Amino acid sequence: MNSVQNQGTALVTGASSGIGAVYAQRLAARGFDLLLVARDQERLEAAASQLRAAHGVQVEVLKADLTQKDDVLKLEQRLRSDSSISLLLNNAGVATDGLLANADMDELERLIQLNVITVTRLASAAAAGFTKAGRGTIINIASVVALFPERFNATYSASKAYVLSLTQSLDAELQGTGVQVQAVLPGVTRTEIMERSGIDASQIPADMIMEAGEMVDAALSGLDQGELITIPSLPNASEWEAFMAARHAMAPNLSRSTAATRYK
Ligand SMILES: NC(=O)c1ccc[n+]([C@@H]2O[C@H](COP(=O)([O-])OP(=O)(O)OC[C@H]3O[C@@H](n4cnc5c(N)ncnc54)[C@H](OP(=O)(O)O)[C@@H]3O)[C@@H](O)[C@H]2O)c1
Repeated sequence: MNSVQNQGTALVTGASSGIGAVYAQRLAARGFDLLLVARDQERLEAAASQLRAAHGVQVEVLKADLTQKDDVLKLEQRLRSDSSISLLLNNAGVATDGLLANADMDELERLIQLNVITVTRLASAAAAGFTKAGRGTIINIASVVALFPERFNATYSASKAYVLSLTQSLDAELQGTGVQVQAVLPGVTRTEIMERSGIDASQIPADMIMEAGEMVDAALSGLDQGELITIPSLPNASEWEAFMAARHAMAPNLSRSTAATRYK
């Protein structure tokens, strides 16, 4: 047990494995009580027992399939009404393999439901609850493929670009409310995601794969530093800043009354 001051409750989606399970440990160590959400109740209960014993925090387990609207609605309701919740980690996600032209559209719909629609609904509910409380943190797990969609399949990359964009807009909307927002863009991270989605990870060079613990510790350091966007792998932060500066430089010219001369 430790004596870290209680920080409120962190709601962690996808807490049964990989990145979400590591966040649960790290947040418990920081003194957060936890609400752990995923489909695999047994794994969540095992994690909960371990975290209670190691950190002396309260841990509740909630079995939910976040592709199912009823389950998502219950969580939204909880986020809107439970003032003890102070952090949302929007982490549950799936990947897929293959070309869009050959895709199983039902599988892609479930991916979009989980990676996009559920993330949006939970972020909205958290933004409402946290704004009312004048405090809170929303962390959305995106991916570096948001910045390099040509390197990965279309739907997963697009879903993560959506999460990045959602986070940037949400941050602008929440200025002055006391609510902190962060998007985390991991590169390849050693978890179950590849295996679960049938992706052959054996060809990925070892120096491109980060351990989940290192990724999450870097992401939490970025959060502590007040970063809106955290890219744990990127050695030189000025590359991201240059990318943002190029975007801002275009801004005054993106909507004008006349078409550019090259189109006339
Ligand atoms: N690993 C990487 O290389 C990488 C890179 C960039 C971004 N990410 C992102 O990181 C996040 C976490 O992924 P991970 O790598 O840690 O993968 P993971 O080990 O496969 O974990 C995914 C988590 O999401 C949960 N989940 C999946 N489908 C769900 C559903 N329908 N309802 C509720 N929970 C569901 C899983 O729990 P149950 O099966 O128990 O439901 C599990 O806890 C994802 O958003 C992923 O896109 C991963």
